[in-house]
Amino acid sequence: MKKLMAANWKMFKTWDEARSTAEELVDLIGAKLPEDREILIFPPFTSLKGVGDVFSKAEGFFVGGQDFYIEEEGAFTGEISPKMLKDVGSVYGLTGHSERRHVLGEDDTYIGNKTSYGLSAGLKVVLCIGEKLEERKGGKIEEVLERQLRVGLKDVSLDVDPKNLSIAYEPVWAIGTGEVAGPEEIIKAHAFTRKILLSIFGEKANEMRILYGGSVKPGNCGEIIALDNVDGVLVGGASLHSESFSQIILA
Ligand code: PGA
Repeated sequence: MKKLMAANWKMFKTWDEARSTAEELVDLIGAKLPEDREILIFPPFTSLKGVGDVFSKAEGFFVGGQDFYIEEEGAFTGEISPKMLKDVGSVYGLTGHSERRHVLGEDDTYIGNKTSYGLSAGLKVVLCIGEKLEERKGGKIEEVLERQLRVGLKDVSLDVDPKNLSIAYEPVWAIGTGEVAGPEEIIKAHAFTRKILLSIFGEKANEMRILYGGSVKPGNCGEIIALDNVDGVLVGGASLHSESFSQIILA
C-alpha cells in the first residue's frame, strides 16, 4: 500500500500562488518521489485546474476537492459537484474535515451522505474523523471515532474498492495548534479505527489507508509515518510552503 502524503491548503493561495507552489514542489521532489508514496493536494476550488495542470506532467501527484455537494448538478448556489471536480482533474474528495464539522456546522449524517455520494460518483474519498479536546478529557475518544466512522460510512457499498476510501484521524485539538498527538495515542486511535473498518468491511479494510493529521511538520513526520497503521499524513499549515511540504513527503 502506498503512503498518501496529503496537503489541505484550506482557504489559502491565489491561483498564481498555488500554481507556483505546485511547480516548486514538482521541481523539489522530481524523480526523488519514493515508489511507495503518493502526493495529494487539496487546493481551493479556484486553483484546482492550475495545480492539476502542473501535476498532470508528474507521476504520483494528484489533486482533490476540499468539499463537494451530493448532486450531479442543479439549483444549489455556491456548490460544486464531484462531476465538476473530476472535470478539472480531481481524483479525490475530502469529507468530514473538522472545520466543516465545527466551523461550518456539518453533521455526521450529511458527511455520511457526501462520503457515499462522492464514492459512487467516482471520486476517491478521504473521510476525516477526530475528537475535540473536551471529548478527549471526558474519555470519549473511541465513542466519538466509532460514531463518526459508522455514520460517516453508513451508505458506503460493501463492494467499495478499498483503494478508493481512506480515513484521516485528526484530533481537533491538534489541528493548527502545534500540539501533536503522542506516538502511543496515534497508534491506539489508528488501531481502533482499523478495528471498526474491519468490522464494517471485513478483510479488505486492511487495504484502506488511515492517515494522521494535526500539526504534522518536517521534524515529526518521519516518526509519525513509521507508526503501525499510519498509511499517510494530512498536512495543513506546513504544506503551504513547497520547502517544508517536500521535506514532509521525503521524511
Ligand atoms: P495542520 O492542519 O497541519 O495545520 O494542523 C491539518 C488539517 O487541518 O488537515
